Amino acid sequence: MTRYERADLGRTTLVFYEGALVAYFTISNAGIYTEFLKNAKSFSSDPEIKIDMIPAVKIGRLAVQTGRQNCGIGRFLVAYIARIALKKGAPAARLLILESKPNSERFYTEIGFEFALQIGRMRGRTNRTMFMDLQKLAGLLADIDFE
Ligand SMILES: CC(C)(COP(=O)(O)OP(=O)(O)OC[C@H]1O[C@@H](n2cnc3c(N)ncnc32)[C@H](O)[C@@H]1OP(=O)(O)O)[C@@H](O)C(=O)NCCC(=O)NCCS
Repeated sequence: MTRYERADLGRTTLVFYEGALVAYFTISNAGIYTEFLKNAKSFSSDPEIKIDMIPAVKIGRLAVQTGRQNCGIGRFLVAYIARIALKKGAPAARLLILESKPNSERFYTEIGFEFALQIGRMRGRTNRTMFMDLQKLAGLLADIDFE
């Protein structure tokens, strides 16, 4: 069990295939201030809704074993996490967010993540904040068989 796990700062899931560890991911509850979102307007189209921070599920870590990369596991796991975030009864989350390492940016862009603005204390950071709107995904998830 990791320190993050013990401190309730992140929950890690290990993914096995035919008895071998092929991937893992860590998720936690989070939020992101609207000023960091390029399309912040879409979150405030209803004038009755005034919100400074958009609720999110944060992917703290996502890694696929080297020999298993580029087989669709990463994409599947992001969809799996989205399904957890959208589950009935779970605390509301509008976004998936993460801090991407430079060499993973293309992967996340490929599957639909966008860059948050790099302003204030985020400016110049190597790992950039990325987000995906879960409402855009809800329809697609219905077609995926997770069993
Ligand atoms: C980034 C990572 C999670 C992607 O998982 P994956 O299982 O290899 O990705 P997928 O096979 O689901 O790829 C989905 C799409 O993204 C593309 N892609 C995957 N990795 C990519 C990369 N590094 N750069 C560009 N595109 C990439 C794939 O070609 C695929 O596109 P396609 O469906 O059009 O063919 C995985 O490569 C990894 O664990 N990397 C190292 C660990 C790491 O740095 N983790 C992130 C920080 S904790």
